[in-house]
Formats: sequence, C-alpha cells, structure tokens
Amino acid sequence: MAPTERVILSAAEIPQALALSDEAGWNQSAEDWAVFVRHGKVLGLLAQGRLAATAAVLPYGEAFGWISMVLVTAGCRRRGYARELMTACIARLRETGRVAFLDATPAGAAVYAAFGFRALCGMQRWAGNGTGRATPSRAEVADIDAPAFGADRRFLLDSFLGRPGSAAYAADGGCVLLRPGRHAMQIGPLVADTTSAPMLLDSAIAAAHGPVVIDLLESGAALEPWLEARGFTPQRRFLRMALGAASMPGDPARLLVAAGPEFG
Ligand SMILES: CC(C)(COP(=O)(O)OP(=O)(O)OC[C@H]1O[C@@H](n2cnc3c(N)ncnc32)[C@H](O)[C@@H]1OP(=O)(O)O)[C@@H](O)C(=O)NCCC(=O)NCCS
Repeated sequence: MAPTERVILSAAEIPQALALSDEAGWNQSAEDWAVFVRHGKVLGLLAQGRLAATAAVLPYGEAFGWISMVLVTAGCRRRGYARELMTACIARLRETGRVAFLDATPAGAAVYAAFGFRALCGMQRWAGNGTGRATPSRAEVADIDAPAFGADRRFLLDSFLGRPGSAAYAADGGCVLLRPGRHAMQIGPLVADTTSAPMLLDSAIAAAHGPVVIDLLESGAALEPWLEARGFTPQRRFLRMALGAASMPGDPARLLVAAGPEFG
C-alpha cells in the first residue's frame, strides 16, 4: 500500500477538498469548506502527493463538536483511511473535553459504529424545486413588456430597475416589476398569462415592504379574489381612454397590471 501523509488543510487546499466532495456528488461549496478550515480543522491524507481523504472537526461551544466531510476517493477505499482520520478527529475533540456528534451516511455509519457511535435520531434529505422566480435582465424585461404594451419602453423600465429596492421576476415568458414610490411600493407592469400571474405577483409581494399599490387592468380582473385573499382592497378607479384609436395597442390580454396611470 502506498505510504500516506497526514496533513491539516489550509485555504489553499480547498480546491482539492472540493474535488473530493464533488466526486461523491455532495452539495458542499468552497465556502462550506472554508468554514471548516477557518472555524475548525480539516484533516487530510495525501496518497502519492494527492489529497485522497478528508475528515473535519467543527467545535460548537465548549461541550461538543461536529465531525463531517469524511470522504475517501473511490480508488483508495477500504484501506483504513477513514478509520485513521476518524481516530484523529475523535482525539481532537476528546483533548478539549468535547463529545462528538455527526450525521452519518449508511457507508459512514459502518465506519463509525466501530468507534462506539450510537444512533440518536434519523434524518432524511428531501429534494424538490424552489418556487422563487428568476430575476431577468433589464433587456429581458423590456423584450417581454414591449409586445404586451405595444411599444418599447425600456427607458422607463430601466429607470424603475435602477431605483434602490426595485426588483423584477420572470416566469413562463412573463415578468413583473416592483419599484419604490413616494408613499408605497408599486407593483407593475405585470405581463403574464393568468396562470403564471399569481406566482409572479407572489414574488413581488414577498419582496415588498409596507404599503403596496397595484394598478390592475380589466384584463387581470381574475386576480381580484386572489388580491383580496392577500389583504388588498380597492382604493380608486381609473379609466383607460384613447383619442384616435378604438382598441389598445400590443397584446392587452397579457398586460394584467399597468406600470401606473401616469405611464400606461
Ligand atoms: C464511507 C467512507 C468514508 C469509508 O472510507 P474508507 O476509507 O473506505 O473506510 P475504512 O477503510 O477506514 O473502513 C473502516 C471500516 O469501516 C467499515 N466500512 C467502510 N466502508 C464500508 C462499506 N462501504 N460497507 C461496509 N462497511 C464499511 C469496515 O468495517 C471497515 O473496516 P474493514 O475494511 O477492515 O472491514 C468512504 O466509503 C466514502 O468516502 N464514501 C462516500 C462518502 C461518505 O459516505 N462518507 C461518509 C459520510 S458520513
């Protein structure tokens, strides 16, 4: 068996450590590894000069610490590397009077049982998809708005988005803007079909603080109960009018919320 060298990892070795967690398909980032390096100790084993195994100890207060990042590269398993690093991690915690906790994978549990670790409670990782809306670029916002409004008004949308506290969210080919006003945050324009409109509005409402106003066009009337359910109440009415045109420009069925009565 090739000789190994025990090392304590510094920030410079984080890329190698990240390669090990990536190899295992784990979710830790370089920032996570940096936490262990900065606030705990990451022990490593070099085999032929390359990082082949890691284990980290992270003290939490004076009474206990967490052992984690027990990783051995696939080609070096069942050579006792994990056992060696675990022995060192446990010793480090014992030296400072701390007890050891960890959350074991099934493979890890096989290693830890031999040290006397006993099961306390189960834990299960769940996976799914977040419902947060993507934040589109200014160009994307303008490209979504123009066909619905009937004119390119990126000068206006850029102005909205340049204001501190403003935000834009996009989904399913639609988008919504949030901007601060003098007395209230204003949501609009909202360009969407009626199925994706609620989730876009949800994102904007969740990002807003304090009073919020929304100029809901008749095309968005289906959203009235939805707004009521979120505590919104009608405040005042406007009438969109034209001189020289019999209908609205663009695709009014997709423009559900106006930028405001002053902007259309
Ligand atoms: C789990 C892991 C760290 C073990 O590393 P390792 O260096 O191969 O383990 P060791 O050689 O030190 O094994 C020590 C003992 O643990 C037990 N063991 C280790 N791996 C085992 C496995 N896959 N199945 C059953 N028992 C195992 C054995 O009793 C072994 O002793 P033995 O080889 O003399 O029979 C390694 O398989 C790995 O990196 N897996 C993917 C990441 C992971 O799950 N890490 C644990 C996080 S909690």
